[in-house]
Amino acid sequence: MNKQTITIGIIGAGSIGSLFGGYLANISSDEYNINMFFFGREAHINAINENGLLIQTKTDSIRINNIIGYTSPKAYLRDNKDERFNFIFLTTKAYDIRNALFEYRELISLTNWLVILQNGIGNEEIAKDFIIDSKIIRAITSNGALLTDSGTVKHTGEGFTKIGLAFKKNIAKDQKTQAYNSLELLKSLFSNAGIKIEMEDDIIRNCWEKVFVNIGINAVGALTRLRNGELLERNELKKLMRDAINEAIMIAKVKKIKLTDKDFVKLCFDVAKKTKNNINSMLQDIMKGKKTEIDFINGRILKYGQEFELDVPINRMITILIKGLEDSNL
Ligand SMILES: NC(=O)c1ccc[n+]([C@@H]2O[C@H](COP(=O)([O-])OP(=O)(O)OC[C@H]3O[C@@H](n4cnc5c(N)ncnc54)[C@H](OP(=O)(O)O)[C@@H]3O)[C@@H](O)[C@H]2O)c1
Repeated sequence: MNKQTITIGIIGAGSIGSLFGGYLANISSDEYNINMFFFGREAHINAINENGLLIQTKTDSIRINNIIGYTSPKAYLRDNKDERFNFIFLTTKAYDIRNALFEYRELISLTNWLVILQNGIGNEEIAKDFIIDSKIIRAITSNGALLTDSGTVKHTGEGFTKIGLAFKKNIAKDQKTQAYNSLELLKSLFSNAGIKIEMEDDIIRNCWEKVFVNIGINAVGALTRLRNGELLERNELKKLMRDAINEAIMIAKVKKIKLTDKDFVKLCFDVAKKTKNNINSMLQDIMKGKKTEIDFINGRILKYGQEFELDVPINRMITILIKGLEDSNL
């Protein structure tokens, strides 16, 4: 049987990008041949080009040797002329989305699909400036990954990944079948790579519902320096988390996001309880003196609130405080 060649690029091959790109590159199947290109920072890319990528799981170490890494689009285009990509994944932090898409705009013009695999809401709106909206796939994941060294990524937690068309309504009737076939192909690739995958009809709703949990936990944890479970030991903090989520739900409804009837505050508290020993990612960023994704979490609620002239005082205060913390060098 002739194998189908699938060419994939990962822009921002850091923790989550290397994990997903690594598993996809490692597919061993009668159906697919994978060409995998990583675009990232020098030390990590050099290590991969010299020794391959090492994925460490709880039980295993997998070395993947068929990834080719680049640190710029120019170097890739010099070597590969204008070979097309089936999928380009964008896996930078959300705050880097515009710069990364601008830097790699020539490659973006060579892909059938841009897959935005990031946390946050509104990310796809920025991507629309670089690719036609009907070619954007959104993906979210509850897998955990950490670059522990150049060339080495640790799979820190198993989870689910969800994919869907970001602007489903804007896909022309005669292109719908092709779009769903591409989603099916992506789903099949993920499954072959051992990544638990679900296709979602309304992925944007899923992004919002995931971000409600982040809105409750991340910034409050970062400001108080408390682990997820410790947030639940203080009624005042639980009230703050509840108020922040309720503001976000109000904005989602104004934006006509068709939310399910879950109790999102309870869901957030349940997640905090389940992950009680975790130091959330925003607190980790603050502890490392790094920028956070606040603008795509609580800050997005503030931005949309301003657009609709709706006051969201809790998310406004939280966003301002986190930005202050980002600037602190103490
Ligand atoms: N890690 C996880 O467990 C996890 C789980 C679920 C969701 N997510 C989400 O996934 C997204 C990525 O997170 P992450 O943890 O993988 O972040 P990360 O480890 O910081 O990886 C992002 C990588 O992109 C690089 N980058 C930024 N701009 C670039 C550019 N223009 N060209 C090339 N490389 C560029 C960064 O380099 P510099 O650092 O040098 O800028 C970094 O190496 C975030 O939205 C995060 O919330 C992560």
